[in-house]
Amino acid sequence: MAKRLSKVMTSTFLFIFFFSTYVTAEEAPSFSQSLSPSSLGLEREKLSHFHFYFHDIVSGPKPSAVRVAQAAITNTSSTGFGMVMMMDDALTVLPERSSKLVGRAQGIYSSASQSEIGSLMVFNFVFLEGKYNGSTLSVLGRNKVLSAVREMPIVGGSGVFRFARGYAQARTHAYDNKTGYALVEYNVYVLHY
Ligand SMILES: *[C@@H]1O[C@H](CO)[C@@H](O)[C@H](O)[C@H]1NC(C)=O
Ligand SMILES: *[C@@H]1O[C@H](CO)[C@@H](O)[C@H](O)[C@H]1NC(C)=O
Ligand SMILES: *[C@@H]1O[C@H](CO)[C@@H](O)[C@H](O)[C@H]1NC(C)=O
Repeated sequence: MAKRLSKVMTSTFLFIFFFSTYVTAEEAPSFSQSLSPSSLGLEREKLSHFHFYFHDIVSGPKPSAVRVAQAAITNTSSTGFGMVMMMDDALTVLPERSSKLVGRAQGIYSSASQSEIGSLMVFNFVFLEGKYNGSTLSVLGRNKVLSAVREMPIVGGSGVFRFARGYAQARTHAYDNKTGYALVEYNVYVLHY
């Protein structure tokens, strides 16, 4: 009798267990949940500094930045208002173009001001070096190119730069007014995990 009762209880228990699992599985999958930062390996935020040179080559046989769009008024605008450029510019450790390549600046810059030379910058720093290889930092900011120092926000990143935020400071190192070649020194400060 006791044996039978325990058998019934066991099967009842199993039924309830599997049924409740089934019911749970049938519910819509949860669309959001709280996670502890450590579950993604996010322990301590650190600050990193990067220093490199950016080569913007707009003419010659192998330009790294090309004009992809313009407005009817762009060529008569004193600020080139409306011009849109696409770049894939090399980032090197030293000012020399032949020095070690550490990444590329890929994206768009465009003339966004009618009263002064001011670019809207929307691009990614794509790193190629060491543990940063394949990771990116995204920049969205304003670049008043004739100013000595321009600051642009780092709005995010990927790979080792997940959850990144920070800023980039650009200083023109050299500019060739015949070819349009601009060599720009960058200091990038970024908080990431
Ligand atoms: C504006 O100037 C650029 C570069 O000199 C030239 O390629 C383009 O055709 C010009 N556009 C217009 C609309 O005149
Ligand atoms: C960076 O990663 C690419 C693709 O995984 C690889 O081909 C390349 O050799 C790596 N470069 C360095 C410097 O590690
Ligand atoms: C280009 O730069 C040289 C040397 O700095 C200067 O003499 C010249 O006037 C500049 N040309 C233009 C078109 O700005």
